[in-house]
Amino acid sequence: MDASVLNYTVNDNVASFLNKNQKLYIGGKWVDTSSSKTFDVEDPATGKKLSSCAAGNSNDIDLAVKAAREAFDSGRWTGIPANERGKIIWKIGDLIDNHAEELAQLESLDNGKPVAVAGAADVPLSSDIFRYMAGWATKIEGETIPISVPYTPGAQYHSYTVKEPVGVVGQIIPWNFPLLMAAWKIAPALAAGCTIVLKPAEQTPLSALRLIEIIHDSGILPDGVLNLVTGLGEDAGAPLASHPHVDKVAFTGSTEVGKLITKAAAGNLKKVSLELGGKSPTIIFPDADIDAAIAGAASAIFFNHGQCCCAGSRLFAHEKVFDKVTEGISKIADQIKVGPGMDTSTEMGPLVSDEQFQKVSGYIESGKSEGGEVVAGGKYDNSSGGHFVHPTVFAKTNADMTLVKEEIFGPVVCAQPFSDENLEKIANEANNTTFGLAASVWTKNISVAHKLASKIRAGTVWINCHNIFDASLPFGGFKESGWGREMGHEVLKNYTEVKAVTVNL
Ligand code: NAI
Ligand code: MG
Repeated sequence: MDASVLNYTVNDNVASFLNKNQKLYIGGKWVDTSSSKTFDVEDPATGKKLSSCAAGNSNDIDLAVKAAREAFDSGRWTGIPANERGKIIWKIGDLIDNHAEELAQLESLDNGKPVAVAGAADVPLSSDIFRYMAGWATKIEGETIPISVPYTPGAQYHSYTVKEPVGVVGQIIPWNFPLLMAAWKIAPALAAGCTIVLKPAEQTPLSALRLIEIIHDSGILPDGVLNLVTGLGEDAGAPLASHPHVDKVAFTGSTEVGKLITKAAAGNLKKVSLELGGKSPTIIFPDADIDAAIAGAASAIFFNHGQCCCAGSRLFAHEKVFDKVTEGISKIADQIKVGPGMDTSTEMGPLVSDEQFQKVSGYIESGKSEGGEVVAGGKYDNSSGGHFVHPTVFAKTNADMTLVKEEIFGPVVCAQPFSDENLEKIANEANNTTFGLAASVWTKNISVAHKLASKIRAGTVWINCHNIFDASLPFGGFKESGWGREMGHEVLKNYTEVKAVTVNL
């Protein structure tokens, strides 16, 4: 790393970590990639190189899968009693907290998000999921089931189920919450007894690399249980998804790649879970606490610069409050301080990459040309080398516009009024999308809130709040937002197989 790249004072561990040539982690060892190729990781606030990572390829994936396979088949992980495995998983949570400052800084440098947000949300949510999953290691239980068997009259049986780990899992994660996505994937897989090959996003591999380095240095995980291969999607992600000795692939990212993953998984019919895109509605009724709804709807779209799969990107406000709501959100948008994530006064950092900058600014232009009215923001600027897009509010949008139909994944909200309080109609509008990840409903009328919650086709419905996450709450999508759920005990279904055992008494 060129020291001039960092304009900020960073934790000593961050400085020394960035100075290293990053390797792959396979079978408990740091190894070079067989391709000898590297790829650069940039600081999205400046566009300058931050670090250089190993560009893993199909040979490296093969080696990592072999290591994970060997660790699984030898019982090196499942052979440890569940309570001891739980303690190890809990310790990973403690390790994250003990390195909170450096992980928050790395996340901010790598992804662009404000360092205070990384410290307040990404890091503690990551340690929390390890602690939550630590408890589950001892609670993955089967059932005893009374059976009748009409064709063996008089026979008596004892039947029970056991839940066994699915085996070797490939985990492919995105760049919007790099550490947290790694934690959401690793923690339940370890609790279920699986072994892992993790492929972080090429834009943001640093916090996962550092997490695994911290775990390695602590010596708490047996070799081969957790492996990491950095690299590009096509070179390292695709061979992991198609690998014949991987039993399950867990993916978070674009719907487009999610569909490719399902095709790649077909070769050995590996299990697949997918957490994909969204176009989530925020619905504000006239009786809502309007100030709270305005703040909530603004945060729903502007949190993490709109780079959230559940971002409240379609805003429906009743016509009686529409102007007040859009004015309120626009005022918040105008006041948000956009700047480098490592600047402690920054409230919104740059987008993660030039690719995302081009994509999001392209949507802003398409919205303008389709007749949308920009009431806040609409500006973007990469003249400094950073990928800055200002929080943007569009009014006069409708369901036919590209920016209302497609996932923007940036700080851009499309507002539309509604006049009728017929819940069926509102739900139809809210559901008028190929996605089904999340929604929020803002009203004081509990009957309206619950009725609408039941009509919305999405994996999460928030009432008078948005973006509320907890390790114990399942999260995932209906429709093209994915398969399966992350977090909660639901996620354990992704990582276990059910075996029915029947004894003839
Ligand atoms: P992506 O889906 O291409 O990348 C996500 C992960 O998949 C990365 O680790 C990438 O290396 C890997 N990948 C890419 N191609 C692959 C392939 N053929 N086989 C296996 N793995 C592959 O997402 P990208 O291009 O970074 O972002 C594009 C759009 O996706 C965003 O604008 C946004 O709309 C959406 N997205 C959604 C996320 C979510 O949380 N659901 C997260 C990130 C992006
Ligand atoms: Mg992509």
